[in-house]
Amino acid sequence: MSRILSGIKPTGKLHIGNYFGMMRPAIEWQNKGEALYFIADYHALTTLHDPKLMKEYSRGVALDFLACGLDPERATLFKQSDVPQVCELTWILSTLTPMPMLGNAHAFKAHVERIEQLGGEAATLGLFAYPVLMAIDILIYDSDIVPVGRDQKQHVEITRDLAVKFNRTFGETFKLPQPSILPDVETIPGLDGQKMSKSYNNTVELFLDEKTLRKKIMGIVTDSTPVEAPKDPTNSAIVNLFRLFAAPNDVEKMEADFRAGGIGYGDFKKRLFEAIWNFFEPMRKRRAEIERDPRYIDEVLARGAARANELANATTERVRKIVGLI
Ligand code: TRP
Repeated sequence: MSRILSGIKPTGKLHIGNYFGMMRPAIEWQNKGEALYFIADYHALTTLHDPKLMKEYSRGVALDFLACGLDPERATLFKQSDVPQVCELTWILSTLTPMPMLGNAHAFKAHVERIEQLGGEAATLGLFAYPVLMAIDILIYDSDIVPVGRDQKQHVEITRDLAVKFNRTFGETFKLPQPSILPDVETIPGLDGQKMSKSYNNTVELFLDEKTLRKKIMGIVTDSTPVEAPKDPTNSAIVNLFRLFAAPNDVEKMEADFRAGGIGYGDFKKRLFEAIWNFFEPMRKRRAEIERDPRYIDEVLARGAARANELANATTERVRKIVGLI
């Protein structure tokens, strides 16, 4: 049975881009092998230095994943920091990691390029070493498949390169993982039409209350084509988002109505709002149920940590031996 692994950083509330890009495929994978999903709190520390928010977001990720259909009977859900062995192995792997490889990693490069906007704050060692930690996240569980967004593909390639280098140096230790990228949802448009991302400040969170969601959707940026005029559906963020939530015939109808003219963007946004609201209705219900019993999440995470530690301890022992620490 193949082992599937992915992680998600608790750096904010989960949004629609996370849902289609990572959560939904991850949840589908739970039926196809042994799935392990973790809350990447060590990684989040590279940008989040607020303990209260760290706790809130970590718990939020667990809650939202469970609400969206992650089944703890099938999949293992745990916190990255409940397996501190990853830090030890990250150190060991870092001694084989060429600095230029990390200098080319996109998160670090993006920081260096945007350094002015970031207030001139220098990149940290943690940010620089981010891909090594991620490599160990993957390798420590002997993962076969890593479902990630396109933006994380480079990290999985680095993981493979480092695993090869380690195996060549010390002997066969790590299994080489394979990324799995969903091609059709590579870019979910945000409120401004750019890719939905926290860094662009254009996200739509999964579990907003009705009023806030409506306001966000009504705020989608559109051009100034008048109501009567025909509109182009091909590059419209409204249509592209609608496609994710509505039945194909409703999408066709919206496209036709765009082309025909006579309907303003506001009406299309209302249709989009309804579609999103209805789509998440069952998950909202499940979420409210889970929230009624706060111990439930603690229990799920404790069980997840136990399984993750079992796997991680075996790999850690193997690594310590092969490098000569024990
Ligand atoms: N870097 C990933 C992100 O930003 C999160 C992550 C950390 C991850 N470790 C991982 C994803 C291991 C897959 C596998 O989304």
